[in-house]
This record gives sequence, C-alpha cells and structure tokens, in this order.
Amino acid sequence: MLFPDYRPRRLRQNEAFRRMMRETVLAPDDLILPLFVIGGQDERNPIEAMPGQFQLSIDQLIPVVRGAHGLGIPAVMLFGIPDRKDPLGTRAYAKDGIVQKAVKALKDQVHGMAVITDVCLCQYTDHGHCGVVEGDRIDNDASLDLLARTALSHAKAGADMVAPSDMMDGRVTEIRAALDESGFSQTPVMSYAVKYCSAFYGPFRHAADSAPKFGDRRTYQMDPANVLEGIREATMDVEEGADIIMVKPALAYLDVILRIRQEIDLPVAAYSVSGEYAMLKAAEKMGWLDGPRVMMESLTAIKRAGADMILTYFAMEAAEMLQQ
Ligand code: PBG
Repeated sequence: MLFPDYRPRRLRQNEAFRRMMRETVLAPDDLILPLFVIGGQDERNPIEAMPGQFQLSIDQLIPVVRGAHGLGIPAVMLFGIPDRKDPLGTRAYAKDGIVQKAVKALKDQVHGMAVITDVCLCQYTDHGHCGVVEGDRIDNDASLDLLARTALSHAKAGADMVAPSDMMDGRVTEIRAALDESGFSQTPVMSYAVKYCSAFYGPFRHAADSAPKFGDRRTYQMDPANVLEGIREATMDVEEGADIIMVKPALAYLDVILRIRQEIDLPVAAYSVSGEYAMLKAAEKMGWLDGPRVMMESLTAIKRAGADMILTYFAMEAAEMLQQ
C-alpha cells in the first residue's frame, strides 16, 4: 500500500465517494438540547456569553421544545433557575419547584420528547456549592439524601431520566435506591460520572446563577490532568447502577471520551459545555471562524471520539443543518 500503487486521494475525488467513505455520521438522534427554565411569564432573557440561548419561562420553553422535537432531537436536559436560594437548596426538591413544574408542563404539552433533568444543588444553594456546606467544607454524605430527594421529585413530576451532576461520591446508589423504593425502577440515571473542574463552565454559571460564593469546586470535580481517575469514577457509577456515563466537558477531553468508550460498555454521553459554545460563537462573531463549519466539525469530532450522544447548545442549529 505505498505510493504510487496506492493513492488515498482516489477515494476523496468526489462527494459521492466522500459520503461512501465517511466513518462518522452525525444525526439529530445524537443530540440533546440543554435548556434553562426560570419562573414568571413571557421571560426570554438572552444569556450574554451564549448567543442564541435564553433563560425561558415555562410558556416560552414549550414552543422551543416543540421546535426541537420537530427537528428530530430526541431529548432535552433541563436546568432550573429558582425564585430563591437557601443553605440546603430546598427549591431543588420542592414539589412546586421550577424544574418540577416545567417537567409537568412539557410532559402534558409536548409528546414524544424525552425530558432529562439535571440533578444538582448549586443553582439552589445560597453558597452556590453542589452539596451541603459544613464550615468551609462540602459535606459529601449529608448531600446524598438531598440529591436523592431532588431526583425523586423530578421523577414524580414525570421526568423520563435524571442526570446527577454534583460529583458527590455514592450519589448514584442513593438516587437509584430512592427511585426504586418509590416505584421508579424504570427511570434511568445518566451520571455525570467523569466531570472535570473546568473553566469552560464559566458562561453556564452566569446563565444559571450557580457560581460558588466561596472557594471553588476542586474538592469534588475532577482534576483536568487525570484520566485513570475518570475510569475509576465511571466504573464506580456503573456498579452503583448508572445507565449512561457522561464525560464533561467534551472538546478538551476527547481522549477521555475515547478511553471511557473503550473501558465501559454502557452508552457514553459527552457534554459540550457552555464555554465550548461561547468560544465558537465569539470567533464567528469576530469573523475569524466559519461558525456552521466549526460547529459540525466539533460535533463530529466528539462523536468520532466515541460519544453515543452529545449534549450541546448547538443542538437546534446542528439538527437544522442536518435536515437540509
Ligand atoms: C451543575 C452543572 C454545571 C454544568 C452542568 N451542570 C456547572 C458546574 O458544575 O459548575 C455546566 C454546563 C455548561 O457549562 O454548559 N453542577
């Protein structure tokens, strides 16, 4: 297979050949759209560092989710922005909490769309951490019950799947048990298992008003330098009963996605986070990059690395392009 006998360009010479040789094909089925839901009526607040993304009140959320469904996107991931915060994040597991209300409305009004809920406390706690704070520490075990209550309240509201993103140890076991005990043995858990302590979450924390008020998340989210630790995290969550394993962020962690895909035989999700979206949108706005092309190239790379599904703020734009 050496030149001049072999010529790789033979198979690239026209679009038909290129389509036939394509190893990775992106489809709307691969995409999950993250959405921010806020109380009130007619709220559609643009998120500054995420052009095209909004904090939406439930009445505004419904048509967006209908639109996503129409484009063939199978699922949305909901993040709630509560009306008030307190030390224990009680609005995260309130029956009339914002996510609980949004899930109910979506399940009533948009048929055939899977609704996944982010399970965490950081948007709901006044200190902005993902668990219960004791002094200057985040108390792992004291957080588990609250996370399980949050997941259960989402399931009771009708959520099709719950996705814990807090990074407390043992939370999948606790959530699985809480769901099973209350008759939700059919509700899958998508675990943010391999979640790094990343500066790429910056725009999200503005959007969700969830930045920690003191310290950072380094004692619970993973060190970006580590990959073996990620395999341990993923293996643990598989044993605890997770149904889907997520890697997050995506673009700067393609090697991690590949390793997890090789080590774990569950479906793998990758979360292309707010900062990844912001980077591409900013460069496009400056006229420095071709927005649609870098979007498709990035999403294809995440799938090529081994992701079975991709959470991305580009879901609508990408699905639209894929329909043409
Ligand atoms: C909540 C959570 C975060 C993201 C998803 N769930 C923020 C964080 O951990 O600080 C980030 C998503 C994004 O940046 O798009 N724990």
